[in-house]
Amino acid sequence: YETIDALDAKGKRVLLRADLNVPVRDGRITDRTRIERLCPTIAELSNAGARVIVCSHFDRPKGKRVPEMSLKPLAEALSEALKRPVAFADDCIGPEAEAAVAKLADGDILLLENTRFHAGEEKNDPAMAAGLAKLADAYVNDAFSAAHRAHASTEGVAKLLPAYAGRLMEAELTALDAALGSPARPVVAIVGGAKVSTKLDLLGNLSKKVDVLVIGGAMANTFLAAQGFNVGKSLQEAEMHDTARAILAEAKSGGCEILLPVDLVVAEQFAANAPTRIVPADAVPEGWMALDLGPKSEEAIEQRLRGASTLVWNGPLGAFETPPFDTATVAVAQIVAAMTQSGALKSIGGGGDTVAALRHADVADRMTYVSTAGGAFLEWLEGKTLPGVAALSKA
Ligand code: 3PG
Repeated sequence: YETIDALDAKGKRVLLRADLNVPVRDGRITDRTRIERLCPTIAELSNAGARVIVCSHFDRPKGKRVPEMSLKPLAEALSEALKRPVAFADDCIGPEAEAAVAKLADGDILLLENTRFHAGEEKNDPAMAAGLAKLADAYVNDAFSAAHRAHASTEGVAKLLPAYAGRLMEAELTALDAALGSPARPVVAIVGGAKVSTKLDLLGNLSKKVDVLVIGGAMANTFLAAQGFNVGKSLQEAEMHDTARAILAEAKSGGCEILLPVDLVVAEQFAANAPTRIVPADAVPEGWMALDLGPKSEEAIEQRLRGASTLVWNGPLGAFETPPFDTATVAVAQIVAAMTQSGALKSIGGGGDTVAALRHADVADRMTYVSTAGGAFLEWLEGKTLPGVAALSKA
């Protein structure tokens, strides 16, 4: 793919695919990371004299105009972050969008209404892609976090215009390549979260590519139970035991060490500040459940990290939203941050819950790279081709 280094932007109408699908609660933006990370690309294009036309999806309106899912409030948020005016057009294709684009002068910035208000977006309808392409002379994709969707604004339009990766897209792809493409070895991966079943492809792909695969969170219970350990009333997936054993066997034959918990923090109830005990991983008492990793497990992870050059992290180690079950996640995150800051470790984290967990541990800005992507980060780690990225490479 080409980056915007290859784009002579002066006087050009540039369609910039952003991901402004930010979390909103009670009409307020609760996390501005995606907005902030997008600003450098917009500012660079605008400074270079481009007429910047930003488009994005927001939420899942399913092809209908849902007023609560308008991107209009995002024009103001974007303007605040950029400290420049941002105009807004009530539609992303058709006469209204075209008229708003026609009014732009060099350096101006326009935000278009939610692409998913048109059914053609998710269907990757060629007419929708053509409607978007008509607005611009060049296309820049800065929405890595939406690149796992083959939609008109992420995939279709890339084939109709000269297409480039924006700075955020470039940063995401560079970080992922450093994690799994051509990483400094040894590579440790930490995978946590609730279920084995939703992370099968992830575990399969990582066990082929990394040197040590640390498994934490409730999914570790499934692996422990599959080995015949009593996990009490811990969350686990009994129907995944065969699969878990197959993953362990395959990793072993491929030379990947899978590190499972050696001790666990257990409680009788899943509640904040519930009384806890620390028990060996094969001895969860009847009626108790594992909610976090114990100190010996933490130590074992630390020891693997001390010998590593690269870490890729997806998924919390325990039920981190409910203290004290955030202990292992926070402790390991602190070690990762310190090793990263000292230059010993390249650390890359991403995917839904992970970013929240790293924030909770207050290390998000001390990692080498934290992705803005949820599903796209996961699919990339699973070894899947992301249509939005592939379209840039072909363009
Ligand atoms: C995300 O938030 O992960 C992206 O914006 C993609 O959103 P989607 O899952 O609704 O396609």
